[in-house]
Order: sequence, then structure tokens, then C-alpha cells
Amino acid sequence: MRLAKKVALVTGGAQGLGAAISGRFAEEGAVVFIADMQADVGAKTAAEITANGGKVYFLSLDVSKEEDWIAARAEVEKTAGRFDVLVNNAGINIREPIEEMPAEHFDKMLAVNVRGPFLGIKHFMPLLRKSGGGSIINISSVCGLIGHRYTTEAYTVTKGAVTLLTKTIAVRYGKDNIRCNSIHPSTVDTPLMQELFKNPERKRERFGEVPLGRLATGADVANAALFLASEEASFLNGVALPVDGGTTAD
Ligand SMILES: NC(=O)c1ccc[n+]([C@@H]2O[C@H](COP(=O)([O-])OP(=O)(O)OC[C@H]3O[C@@H](n4cnc5c(N)ncnc54)[C@H](O)[C@@H]3O)[C@@H](O)[C@H]2O)c1
Repeated sequence: MRLAKKVALVTGGAQGLGAAISGRFAEEGAVVFIADMQADVGAKTAAEITANGGKVYFLSLDVSKEEDWIAARAEVEKTAGRFDVLVNNAGINIREPIEEMPAEHFDKMLAVNVRGPFLGIKHFMPLLRKSGGGSIINISSVCGLIGHRYTTEAYTVTKGAVTLLTKTIAVRYGKDNIRCNSIHPSTVDTPLMQELFKNPERKRERFGEVPLGRLATGADVANAALFLASEEASFLNGVALPVDGGTTAD
């Protein structure tokens, strides 16, 4: 068991990549807190993981709300008594080009995609320190590494911010044995993409840009997160890891 005795929290763990990461962590022995706004979907995912033998709890959390993070931290401390792995995965994408995007939509994306991980690290780093260190994994995107021709500006801005939030935490808190790394998936077939894929041209574009010729899967991303969470990655800190079939190598 690669995460035996570890306690993890995964934001946006109710569905998509967060659910895949939560399930994989539980398989490897971690106690997992799924923290999400969708209580019904989250409870279903938690029930599925429990049915597979995992130890999992659901926490209601809006990543953009500081009071929710404070409550989540108290709950984790009370229930688990220690903390080892924070996965900042929750994210949204309002697909509007810069000239058409109302400023409020930009603010909303910043609130979830940047303020969310910022607050998560702010409130959970003290718990990691108390446990003697741990691993923070931020889910960015290929759009946090490159200007991506098919992705509108606001998303790229938020994911680029996550890339450098990761590196600054890595550099400043490595001394506390806190490792911080980011994962940069290319397109994954999750609920986030379903609307876009109704347009066959958009779907063709996304398949065409990947040298390995397929989309990423939740398992691809979950396995990368598992590695970064585990002791096998004990000397990896400040890494921006693409899980993109070679897309950003092009
Ligand atoms: N799907 C992709 O192609 C892809 C590619 C690269 C990066 N990503 C990133 O991976 C992460 C997960 O994406 P996904 O495809 O699984 O998305 P998804 O929409 O399928 O799931 C996102 C989850 O986050 C939750 N969430 C949204 N806002 C929240 C908030 N304010 N507080 C708490 N939870 C909230 C949702 O309820 C949902 O359960 C995101 O950060 C996304 O930007 C996705």
C-alpha cells in the first residue's frame, strides 16, 4: 500500500479527475476526504469508494470560501488527527474569449481556480507541518505551461498562476518537509469536457494535438498524483509534471 496511514483531502473529488484521484488514493490505503460543493454526487462517489474497501469521508466545501476551509480543517483534525496530502483539484472553465468575457466571469474563475488553492494551502499547511511534512499537489493544466490555441484566456491565466503558486510553495516551505508539485493534464474526457465535445470539430482538434493520439484518462492523472503523494517522490519538489501524451513537448 503506497499511501498506508496517510490522510488526504481532494477538492472537487465528487466527479471527474478528483473522483479518480480519490479512488486511487483509497486503493493505496489513504484515508480520503472528498471536499466538493456537490453533496449528492460526492456522497455517491464516497459510497462507491467505500464499497471497494476504501476509507473515505465527504466534506461540503466551496474552495473560494475561507470559512469553508476553516471548517474543513477542523473536521479533518477532529476525525483523522493528522494530515499528509492536499490535492487542489477543483476547477472551472467559463469558455469565453477575452473580448466577450464579462469581468465578473473572470473574477469567478480566479475565485475557484486560484483563490481556492491559495486558501487550501493557507489553511492546511499548518496541519502538514504538525504531521512532520507532506505533499501538496495542484492540478493545473497544459494551459498552465503554454499558450494553448484552443483555450480561452481566463483559464490559461488561472492555470499559469497555479504553476507558480506551486513553485513558490516548493521553494519557501521545502524546509518544513512540505513538497509541492503541479500536474498538467491535456484534455481528459470528464464531465468538464462533455459540452465542448458535442461539437465534432472541437473533439477532432483535441485528439489531433496529442502525439500519443488519445485523450488522457482519469487513471493517467490519478496515477501521477499517487506517485507525487507517495514516498517514492520524496525528492520531487517544485515539479510541473505534464500528463499530456507529449502535447507540450511539441
Ligand atoms: N478535464 C480536462 O480536460 C482537464 C484538463 C486539464 C486540467 N483539468 C483540471 O482538472 C481539474 C478537475 O477537472 P475535471 O475535468 O475533473 O472537472 P469536473 O467539472 O468534471 O469536476 C470538477 C469538480 O470540482 C467541483 N467544484 C467546482 N467548483 C467548486 C468549488 N468552488 N468548490 C468545491 N468544488 C468545486 C465540482 O463540483 C466537480 O465535482 C480542474 O482543475 C481542471 O481545470 C481538467
